[in-house]
Amino acid sequence: MTKKFVILFILINFRNGLMADQIISRSIAKITQSFAESFIKHPIITSATFAISNALAAGVNLITKVPYAVSRALGPIKLSSQISKTNVVDSVDKFMADFNSGKTNEDAEMSIVDILRKYGYSVERHEATTEDGFLLTMFRIPSNGSAVFLMHGLLGSADDFVVAGPGNALAYLLADQGYDVWMGNARGSKHSRRHISLQPSSAAFWDFSWHEIGIYDLPAMIDYVLAKRNTKTLKYAGFSQGTTSFFVMTSEKPEYNSKISVMVALSPVAFMANVVSPVIRLLAPGTSIIHGASQTFGVYEFLPDSKAINTVKWQLCGTGPLASILCSNVLFLIAGFDFGQLNVTNLPVIFGHMPAGASVKQLAHYGQGLISRDFRQFDYGSDENMKRYGVKVPPSYALDKIVAPVCLLYSDADWLAHTTDVELLSKKLNNVVDKYKIPYEQFNHFDFIYAKNVKTLAYKRLLEDFSEF
Ligand SMILES: *[C@@H]1O[C@H](CO)[C@@H](O)[C@H](O)[C@H]1NC(C)=O
Ligand SMILES: *[C@@H]1O[C@H](CO)[C@@H](O)[C@H](O)[C@H]1NC(C)=O
Repeated sequence: MTKKFVILFILINFRNGLMADQIISRSIAKITQSFAESFIKHPIITSATFAISNALAAGVNLITKVPYAVSRALGPIKLSSQISKTNVVDSVDKFMADFNSGKTNEDAEMSIVDILRKYGYSVERHEATTEDGFLLTMFRIPSNGSAVFLMHGLLGSADDFVVAGPGNALAYLLADQGYDVWMGNARGSKHSRRHISLQPSSAAFWDFSWHEIGIYDLPAMIDYVLAKRNTKTLKYAGFSQGTTSFFVMTSEKPEYNSKISVMVALSPVAFMANVVSPVIRLLAPGTSIIHGASQTFGVYEFLPDSKAINTVKWQLCGTGPLASILCSNVLFLIAGFDFGQLNVTNLPVIFGHMPAGASVKQLAHYGQGLISRDFRQFDYGSDENMKRYGVKVPPSYALDKIVAPVCLLYSDADWLAHTTDVELLSKKLNNVVDKYKIPYEQFNHFDFIYAKNVKTLAYKRLLEDFSEF
């Protein structure tokens, strides 16, 4: 086995794990310590990441750096030993050939509107204005059937629901079933970067997390759809942050529960204590620092090419053609991937449409959840919390107020929605009408969006849930 494969192995398969236990030597543990300290204590993120790179480069070779950084990031999560052939690419050549053949796919460069038209679907563009002045784009595949509203994940957009292509992506399947498909776009994502008075270049524009998406964006878009269709309810499907923001909306504005006939959560993300994602785990203790630093430097949008992310990328992926292709997209660094379900030919299309933008505060808010082990409002520090909330500790979201029927679709290998966290969420919700674990062990976060077999593994169940309510 070449070095490249070892790295990939650990990257992809470290949840099943191998060798990391043996690899962490005392000297590495020391570097881990200084790495953690420099990261947490250093006030300026660029210097902090510089220190990390140097600390790592100092004493460990390429191979040990990877599991070391990963195992450090994983913390208490146990790495067992197992080599799974299903997760290894047969050969670099095949991967590169598939990837290169996909490069000529024009869908990578086309807009969602043009893609939908190309495959024979009519499409409309709509705009909803939020109470606080954001102008949000929605795309609709119109029909006289029941209205369904789709909400994308962190760093995603409506494009999430078409990247898997016709016959596979959720937007097409729902339209084929006769549904009236509406796809939302959260503030800050590429289709919704407008505000009645603020510019995306300003600090104030980016001062939001998924809390605001839940209390302003979703209500504005949902009310728009209901008014347009002259109906009282719609069906909702959210992916990842599209579930988080839904739980925020229905707990903070409980009157919205009655507007939802059924909600399907694809990879439900609320409690974060057991998140596996190495990037979130690596960044979690520092997310307040990143947030603070971004305030200082006037950078508010989360930029995937920041120094912090590049450092993580280098630590996790090392070098080599596969690693450099896969790790060139921050989404893979955050959520990993599952080779068994990854359509390499389709990667250029995926890369052409994601990531689609988010604020630093959205990531910081998730990072806080990992540390607090609670699903609660943004933590501004006790003084500011006192001013905003009247209490020192941010209030938890009142999940018991959620009475809309909720279906939880989750999976064993999801780096963001860990099964333990999903179980906790499920216990706190009052009206879980379906709880379905995807019957495929390696199913990971983004498989809910573009797995080769996402239709049979996940969307079939979603369609059943939709038809029942
Ligand atoms: C919806 O129904 C109306 C009236 O029956 C019809 O005129 C219209 O074309 C239909 N729209 C779609 C998108 O099917
Ligand atoms: C993989 O993606 C390509 C192009 O994006 C598509 O033509 C093909 O059908 C996909 N394969 C599978 C198994 O989904």
